[in-house]
Formats: sequence, C-alpha cells, structure tokens
Amino acid sequence: MLIDIHCHILPEVDDGALDLLECLDMANTAVGAGINHLFATPHHMNGQYINKKNEILARVTEVNKHLQQETIPLTIHPGQEVRIHQHLIISLEMDEVLTLDNRGKYLLLELPSGYVPIYTQEVIYQLLMKGITPIIVHPERNRELIEDPHLLFQLVQQGALTQLTSGSVIGLFGKKIKSFSEKIIEHHLAHFIATDAHNVGSRGFSLQEAFETITKTYGIDHTLNFKENALTVLQGQSISIEPPIPIRKKILGIF
Ligand SMILES: [Fe+2]
Repeated sequence: MLIDIHCHILPEVDDGALDLLECLDMANTAVGAGINHLFATPHHMNGQYINKKNEILARVTEVNKHLQQETIPLTIHPGQEVRIHQHLIISLEMDEVLTLDNRGKYLLLELPSGYVPIYTQEVIYQLLMKGITPIIVHPERNRELIEDPHLLFQLVQQGALTQLTSGSVIGLFGKKIKSFSEKIIEHHLAHFIATDAHNVGSRGFSLQEAFETITKTYGIDHTLNFKENALTVLQGQSISIEPPIPIRKKILGIF
C-alpha cells in the first residue's frame, strides 16, 4: 500500500486537474501506480491560488463520492499546500488553513522557490506551539537551501519535517536536484516522499520508482521508514525521527 501525502488531484482549484474527467484519470493512474490513499493538497496563498479550508473539504467529499461511483479503489484525504507568509497563524485562527486530514497535526508548508523568508523560523515556531508540525515540501528545489543546506538542518532541528518529491529522487528535475535530494536523505533531513503530481504526465505518480531508487541506494530500511512515516500521518499519530545531521557547505560547487 502506498500513501501519497502531496498531490494536486482536485478538479478546477489550481494548476492540477482541470476537470472531473482529468481528476478521475489521475485517480486511475495513482491506483495503477500502487497508491490507495492520497492527500489532495491544493495550492493556497502562493500568489496565484486561494483555496480555503472549507472549499477543499467540500470538494474532497464530492470527489470521493465520484470515486465510489466509479469503483476506483482510492481514498482522497483533504489537505492544503500553504505558501508561507508572515501572517500564517492569523489565517489559521481564521480557519482558512487546512492541516492534513483536518486533524490539526501536520501541515504542508511551501517556501518560495528562490529563497527562505526571514520569518520562516518564527512561523515554524508558532505552528509547533499550536501542536502543528509543518512539513516543508520539496526543499530540494529551493535555491537558497541548495546554496546553504545548513539552513535546512536548522529548520529540521527546530522541529519541521520535510518531503522530497519523487521526481527529484529519480532525476526528473536534473542532476543537481537529484544530488541534493540524496544529500538530504543521507543527513536524515527527509521524512516523506510524495508525488506532488499535477497531472498524469511529466511529474506523474512516480512514488514506487522513487522507493526502488532509494532501496537500491540506501537499502530497504530507508524505504520502509518513509512508508511508515506516511502511514503515521494517515493515522494522525506522532512521528519519531532520526536526529538530523548537518550538511557541510559545498566547496567549489561540489557537495
Ligand atoms: Fe504541490
């Protein structure tokens, strides 16, 4: 059983599935790729899309009904990919932010792709104080973290978790991102692998391929650990993690 904690499968909400037909197509593809549980995590506050909690919850209920009608063996769970902003806690208090499965325990947190905002640690602190563990999505694709991996270590040490995109692990985003993904795994700075699928095309549902690569490189225990963490989130339990190891700064462009 595979669990995908990050995916843009909901129709007509963001740059994921265009309509119900594409959503069902994605659902069938996910099932074909071995996924049975999937968190629908539309973009929120990324400068392009606003998808508030209640709208997402309603849409997930609706799509799950269609999945049942079509007898597609996939359960969609509600979630949201929230772009970090200074007033995230206020949004949370205004009930606009949706944690995974609406349990108030884990939140997918997106950083801008080019940098790490100055208030990142403050927001992480505030979330942790509310009992919410932020899961930073695809840190391997953040330019500032690539340049300064120690910053990622600091965020994990502070209590944030991270999710690598399966495509990054198998090299779909190029050598540099694949190599940084490996560093992140080796230094115990990754806790989840997810597809971040937006359609059935390019990024796809390559979770199984990513796990095969990880098993081949690091052994089955790493893969089992990632799978167990996803299950723990699905069950709304607390994750115990390996202590993070600092990544030394790259010298002459080589990690
Ligand atoms: Fe995403």
